[in-house]
Formats: sequence, structure tokens, C-alpha cells
Amino acid sequence: MLAGARGVGHLLKSTPRLVGSESSRRALCVGTTAAASHGLRMLIMGPPGGGKGTISNWIKADYKTNHVSSGDILRSHIEQGTELGTKAADFIRNGALVPDDVMVGLIDAELDRLGGKSWLLDGFPRNDTQAQSLASKGHHPDVVLLLDIPDEVIIERIKHRWVHVSSGRVYHTLYNPPQKEGIDDETGEPLIQRPDDTVEAVTKRLESYHKMTDPLAEFFKNNLRTFKGSESKKIYPEIQKVLSTMI
Ligand code: AP5
Ligand code: MG
Repeated sequence: MLAGARGVGHLLKSTPRLVGSESSRRALCVGTTAAASHGLRMLIMGPPGGGKGTISNWIKADYKTNHVSSGDILRSHIEQGTELGTKAADFIRNGALVPDDVMVGLIDAELDRLGGKSWLLDGFPRNDTQAQSLASKGHHPDVVLLLDIPDEVIIERIKHRWVHVSSGRVYHTLYNPPQKEGIDDETGEPLIQRPDDTVEAVTKRLESYHKMTDPLAEFFKNNLRTFKGSESKKIYPEIQKVLSTMI
């Protein structure tokens, strides 16, 4: 699948910025359990629709970290009609992974730009190649938050998901609806349903997750914290307990 990946690295030049304004944020400093020389580095992993984006938004609000979401960055490229976005759109719509060289370049650029600031990485790495690349660049997460959500709850959730593309804010029409149908609470801009949120694409994304991303739990086993459940609101207090020991 990744053989066609070559030759698109040049598309990385015009990466839209998706992480928020760091100047308005207090750096999340790491305490005794992690290196004190940089802000806390977090990685969130889990299946598609598992609540990574939802929980990341809560962590971002509570801990003032920089959320780096590979999917949000790609969707921003697509929305802005960049060459990279045009190429990535077909992969995403079909529930396939975007080629590794594109993803590695995108994420490296964001993490390099953040330097020693705190970050929360969401959606990367997704396979062994990407994990090795992250480690080779010295981007080691202090903690890896793994959401272990049963497959059967995923498809039902995704049917009701609406997103605000430019911020990555996530809604669920029944469980977490916007104040006004189809409208983002904070900006008043329209919400969309993602084109890869079809049953067919989600089934493929789940397959790919179990085959390629699940095994990364072993790669990160020293820093791994697993949260089992099916409700983000119940999982989040458990995550807060872990993070409170690290700051
Ligand atoms: P990406 O955007 O990263 O998608 P994903 O990993 O498939 O995960 P999602 O964003 O779909 O789900 P999520 O876990 O963030 O859950 P969320 O909180 O939004 O990637 C998209 C595509 O980009 C990939 O398929 C691939 O093509 C490409 N890509 C990205 N990164 C890549 C990489 N590194 N390499 C290659 N390709 C890459 O949603 C959860 C929903 O559930 C929400 O509606 C929420 O409100 C709802 N919810 C939460 N809790 C509950 C509850 N208790 N009950 C009901 N609903 C609930
Ligand atoms: Mg997401």
C-alpha cells in the first residue's frame, strides 16, 4: 500500500498550522517522573472513533498543551486545497493510511517547531515505520495513553459524529450535541460529517488499526497506560489521575 508513497515529500512545504497559539498557553512542565528539560510529551493512541480527539481537546483545555493531530492536519490541507491535501484525500476517503514519508515529514515539522514545549500527539505513529522514525528523531513521549475501546461501539458512534474542521472540535448528535444543530459552539461555523465516516471506511480503518497500530503497544510498553472502557467521560478522570502524577 505504501509503495506509491515516494515522490510526494515535496508537498510538505505548505503545512497549515493546526496547533493553537502557544504564546497564550502555559507550558506544561514535567515533574520528577520525566525529563525536566522539556514540557510533558504525551501520545494518545486508540481505534478510529475511540475518543482520541474528544479526550485530546479536554487535555488541551485543562493542561494547556499543544495538540498535534495527524488527521486534523491532513483535513486542514484538504480544506485549504493544497497539493498534499488533494493527494491525501483519496487515501483518507477510502480508509487507507496516507504514505509514511508524507506523514513522517508532516509530524517531524510540527514537533520540531514546538521545540521543548509540551505536546500531545494524536494519530501518529500508526505503524512500526512511523514509530521508529519518531524515536530516531528523539521525539520520545513521556507517557502513552492507550484507549482500549470495543469495536462494536465504534461504528455506532461514528454515524453520529460531526466535526469542526479548523479546530478539530468533535460532537456527537446524541451524546455531545452542539448547541445549535450543525454549528460549532465556539465559532458559529458549520460542522461537517467526515467523508471517511462511512461504515465501509470505518471497517477498513479498524482492520488497519488492529493490524498495524495495536502492535505499537509493545513498542511503547515502558511508558504505556491503558484505559479500557466505552465512555470518554468515564475514561478521562482516570487519565487525569495519571497526568497529575507527572506535573
Ligand atoms: P484520524 O483523524 O487520526 O482518524 P482516526 O485515528 O481514525 O480516529 P478518529 O479521529 O476517527 O477518532 P478519534 O479516536 O479521534 O475519536 P473522536 O473523539 O473524534 O485519521 C484520519 C485518516 O487520516 C486516517 O484514516 C488516515 O487515512 C489518515 N492518517 C492520519 N494519521 C495518519 C498516519 N499517522 N499515517 C497514515 N495515515 C494517517 O470521536 C469519537 C466519537 O465518539 C465522537 O463523535 C464523540 O463525541 C463520540 N463519543 C465519545 N464518547 C462517547 C460515548 N461515551 N458515547 C457515545 N459517543 C461518544
Ligand atoms: Mg481524531
